[in-house]
Amino acid sequence: MSSKDKLDKKNIPSHVAVIMDGNGRWAKERGKKRIFGHKNGVQSVRDVVEAAGEIGISYLTLYAFSTENWNRPKTEVESLMGLLINSIKKEAAKLFKNNVRLLIIGDFTRLSSKVKENLFSLREKTKNNTGLTVVLALSYSSRWEITEAVRLITEKVEEGEIKSSDVTEELIGNSLATSGIPDPELLIRTSGEQRISNYLLWQIAYSELYFTETFWPDFRKENFFKAIYSYQQRHRRFGKTEEQIENKFDISK
Ligand code: IPE
Ligand code: IPE
Ligand code: MG
Repeated sequence: MSSKDKLDKKNIPSHVAVIMDGNGRWAKERGKKRIFGHKNGVQSVRDVVEAAGEIGISYLTLYAFSTENWNRPKTEVESLMGLLINSIKKEAAKLFKNNVRLLIIGDFTRLSSKVKENLFSLREKTKNNTGLTVVLALSYSSRWEITEAVRLITEKVEEGEIKSSDVTEELIGNSLATSGIPDPELLIRTSGEQRISNYLLWQIAYSELYFTETFWPDFRKENFFKAIYSYQQRHRRFGKTEEQIENKFDISK
């Protein structure tokens, strides 16, 4: 039985975030260059986007390129950006047909105009789509995002638009690149690494974490459904007791 059939349809997370890791090691295992891994990772992106759509997930946030990844060798960065442009061009029609909406989060000032043109045009084309929203985290890091949010808020205070006492968790959340997107219930990281690598630090405060040894190019639909199944077996308590969650007794007594 596939993991998809085992899923509880009433407990599908609305937002799943993914750290797509392990392309380089996948290629190395096969005696190939790192870019070969990145190229093969594109099929996994297709698979996971489709899988997320199939089970009715609303938001899928994919970590495609981090702020720190700019420090990789120039040739790798250039190949990755080239691959991104090609994939966007190739996938555009299918994404549109599948009613997928594209959003992008990250520091666009560092992206080339060619990358920006392609991305922004697909974002514009898909903006009224009502199915799955794919959020591409590109040139993104959480500390960059939080720094920007602090700058935005302090500017408003300086200009007298708001007072420091107006700064709430809600205002901070609304000042992040992910404003309007619910926090992820589940974060998946492939390739065996058990770290967050500057991803969605604010947003994953209460997310369930799922780590798998599988390298990204091998992570396909069934792996994704398995991660969702694992999520469905967790007991989320948000700081409360199990009894409160299960409503076993009245906490006011
Ligand atoms: C993830 O795979 C893709 C990006 C970070 C762009 P890696 O390129 O990090 O592959 P490993 O982790 O070195 O195997
Ligand atoms: C995280 O992977 C970033 C992306 C998947 C885009 P890295 O491979 O860059 O992370 P570290 O360096 O192993 O923490
Ligand atoms: Mg990596």
